Amino acid sequence: MADHLWSGRFSAKPAAALDAINKSIAFDLRLWPQDIEGSRAHAAMLAHIGLLTTDERDAILQGLSAVRAEFEAGTFVVHDEDEDIHMAVERRLTELVGEPGKKLHTGRSRNDQVATDLRLFARDAIDDLSCRGRGVLLRLTELAVAHAADPLPAYTHLQRGMPTTLGHHLMAWAAMLWRDLDRLADARRRANISPLGSGACVGSSFPLDRALTADALGFAGLTTNSLDGVSDRDFVCDLLYACAMMALHLSRIGEEVVLWCTQEFAFLTLGDAVTTGSSMMPNKKNPDGAELLRGKAGRVLGDLVGFMATLKGLPLTYNKDLQEDKEPLFDAVDTLRLGLDMTMALLEGATFHTERMRAACSQGVNATDFCEALVRAGLPLRTAHHQTGRLVALAFARGSELQDLPLDEVRSVAPDATAEMLADLQVDRLLASKTLLGGTAPESVRKAAEALRAALLETQTHPHGGA
Ligand code: ARG
Repeated sequence: MADHLWSGRFSAKPAAALDAINKSIAFDLRLWPQDIEGSRAHAAMLAHIGLLTTDERDAILQGLSAVRAEFEAGTFVVHDEDEDIHMAVERRLTELVGEPGKKLHTGRSRNDQVATDLRLFARDAIDDLSCRGRGVLLRLTELAVAHAADPLPAYTHLQRGMPTTLGHHLMAWAAMLWRDLDRLADARRRANISPLGSGACVGSSFPLDRALTADALGFAGLTTNSLDGVSDRDFVCDLLYACAMMALHLSRIGEEVVLWCTQEFAFLTLGDAVTTGSSMMPNKKNPDGAELLRGKAGRVLGDLVGFMATLKGLPLTYNKDLQEDKEPLFDAVDTLRLGLDMTMALLEGATFHTERMRAACSQGVNATDFCEALVRAGLPLRTAHHQTGRLVALAFARGSELQDLPLDEVRSVAPDATAEMLADLQVDRLLASKTLLGGTAPESVRKAAEALRAALLETQTHPHGGA
């Protein structure tokens, strides 16, 4: 077995247990694109400041291209002594190009290297998640426009409250996810700075051109303290939080989908492509995808809380504990990516039963509007509320609706009531009356959907506000 790159001062091989606990190659191998990009930028900079000849630089860049080609072709072979992706790439590069490969790590430590790689990964992951999130949001705005005038009960305490529209409800989902995109953009802004040049912890005595490597890697700025540069993982926590919050929102959407496609609600039928059968009950069609939107949020939350627990109390600067940053981050990003794709598939495969939703706008969901009509006629709110409550009880006892009670009976409880007030309880009129900004009126919902659509198309061209 070949020696570790750091074997100079050691006379014994690492114990098997140390090897097993210490190696990160099993999970950081996926950082190869970022590691190779970072090394290319570092090599070019070393040549720029005269620490590599142009021949050495070219040999390294060609060698790194060859290593990349092996990863792309799936032919890269990990060796026993490859502790992590950084060592694996450097080891292979040196095998391929010889002496120049041994100069690549000049002025660099795996500590600033891994911090750089992971920031690049976070940035790529955010771009990918944002793109998928925008896809879901665009679909929601389309559906919202299509269903802007379809009545649906709005629930509080999961009890029917007042009529809203399916479009307004879908736009509420969109509002949550829009904030999540904003959180992702915010996480990107803080991840997008270069720690390269922090070295192992104190910077470097070589005249490294930090701005040059940062520019080459597309970073928007530089970290300003080397001790912090190698040990800061706030950007990981920021992204984990953004992922956890978005996964949590998807879990709430998932739960509503589960509820809506029960026989009891029957507001929604999911397509065969997004449901599963039962191995025993031939009648079943289960919304597993939506249930897993609900279920997967738990692990993403665990990723966030678990990694914050790892960071807690860590002294400066780099400590090996920090190697524990990768698995939760990868898990959170992968899980959220799956969740967004599942959400998209659910929306594609959904049939909304709008007649059934309309029919559910019954059993007193117009009581608040009736109460407010009495207020408009001059009654104090409390008096109107009390009279309406009595009328609701009367209607329920009859198994009828408020507007179907005979007018004189209504008047015996609410003397200010008119036939017009009862006629106005028709659901479409109630919807149309909620014209405040952010309200339920179909016109407001259409406007909100169009505004969000425009904002989404705008952020597509400038994904992160230019930062
Ligand atoms: N595999 C390590 C990590 O992921 C790379 C940095 C190791 N640095 C060190 N001094 N051992 O954090």
